[in-house]
Amino acid sequence: MLDSSKYLTPRQIVAELDKYIIGQHDAKRNVAIALRNRWRRMHADPEMQKEIVPNNILMIGATGVGKTEIARRLASIADAPFTKVEASKFTEVGYVGRDVESMVRDLVEQAVNMVKTRKKEEVKQQAALLVEEVILDALIPPISQPGNRDMVGFGGNNHSSAEMPDSDLELNERTRERFRQKIRNGELEDRKIDIKVSQSPSSGVGVMGPGMDEMQMAGIQEMIGNMMPKKTKKRKVTIAEARKILLEEEAAKLIDMDEVKEEAIQKAESAGVIFIDEIDKVASASGKGGSGPDVSREGVQRDLLPIVEGSTVNTKYGVIKTDHILFIAAGAFHVAKPSDLIPELQGRFPIRVELQSLSKDDFYQILKFPKNALTKQYEELLRAEGVELSFTDEALRKLAEISFEVNAEVENIGARRLHTVMSRLLNDILFEVPDTIPPNAHLMITPELVEERLRDMVKNRDLSQYIL
Ligand SMILES: Nc1ncnc2c1ncn2[C@@H]1O[C@H](COP(=O)(O)OP(=O)(O)OP(=O)(O)O)[C@@H](O)[C@H]1O
Ligand SMILES: [Mg+2]
Repeated sequence: MLDSSKYLTPRQIVAELDKYIIGQHDAKRNVAIALRNRWRRMHADPEMQKEIVPNNILMIGATGVGKTEIARRLASIADAPFTKVEASKFTEVGYVGRDVESMVRDLVEQAVNMVKTRKKEEVKQQAALLVEEVILDALIPPISQPGNRDMVGFGGNNHSSAEMPDSDLELNERTRERFRQKIRNGELEDRKIDIKVSQSPSSGVGVMGPGMDEMQMAGIQEMIGNMMPKKTKKRKVTIAEARKILLEEEAAKLIDMDEVKEEAIQKAESAGVIFIDEIDKVASASGKGGSGPDVSREGVQRDLLPIVEGSTVNTKYGVIKTDHILFIAAGAFHVAKPSDLIPELQGRFPIRVELQSLSKDDFYQILKFPKNALTKQYEELLRAEGVELSFTDEALRKLAEISFEVNAEVENIGARRLHTVMSRLLNDILFEVPDTIPPNAHLMITPELVEERLRDMVKNRDLSQYIL
């Protein structure tokens, strides 16, 4: 688990983030340091380990500048349990809605899945052999074991093996070996066989009583599920499908769930990252009195406090301590300011990083460079129709310029503006392919075209308010 090669260095983390996010170096740097610190801590002297608490991060930046995007990419980089939640979704304990502890339970769930997946991977080969046997049995049932009286032989004869001459046994064995080879060579992938699939027993009973939280509910549901007899169902599927289904089942049987739970809790405790988005939505803007929704918002902050400070949370996999979980919070803080958060909570996020507003040049780069750049997405969409779409560099500059202007004039929604502008620009093309624009067409987006499609819109403020 502490294999250092799997843990990226800060520079490597930033390099990974650079593939998707333009600019915002300060934010990238700080999340990279925080992430790497997890690994460093795990290698520190055990005495010290207990003392080293994560430096939680507060990311502050206008809307659409990449806060959530950084979190999303971080999730795929961090080889660690990671959950992203929106603070605005939570309600104070006692009110209807999700309570804040559920984020910790989500994290543990995530960790369990990670550990389970890894363990399944470890037993894959062993499981594959078992699966092969099951498939083979379905194709050519064995007759070698005495006592298998109800087994139907290949020819459908109901001989018991005791009366079976040796040659029949041998024949059966040989046939099975031949088919085993065929299965291995993938010659029988489309052949249909009957397999028994265990169905996860859904109790169908909705249990939700007053005063019960999500976890108790899940616990009860699981309990009922375990009490119900495991049902199996016969299904006729191709061997290829059967392999997929059975592999999952056999692998699950081979792993020890208690071990998984223990390791998952440990992993979530020491390496887990929780990203709390929209934290500003639970801060009450200064000056407002403590009435109405603000009361509940502050309640959410108060509920957050013990979790961020370190407490224990019950999950269906066991008890987890939250002391060493890394929290990254983000918010636009347009109305409320970080100082509007309750002081205790402010203190728990000592690292503040500000994300920069995006410039015209940033927009241009966002259109062009990220792995998932919008231009690449549309190119790919049209490629599916056999149409080749491309953008000249000047066209991208023009698009960036227009987006920037509309942001300045109408409302600043950051890089999200690129989405609206781009879809406006390409609307006609997307409609006409393939009816009037045939496959094999090559469409080049030039600055003139951009100008023609969008200029009026930009000039006419009323129009752009609605359309762009
Ligand atoms: N710096 C950037 N580099 C690349 N793409 C970006 C950048 N900033 C924003 N985007 C793109 O803009 C869109 C919105 O960004 P994101 O969701 O990160 O905004 P946000 O900062 O979380 O805003 P909000 O405060 O409204 O939640 C995403 O699709 C993302 O791809
Ligand atoms: Mg966001």
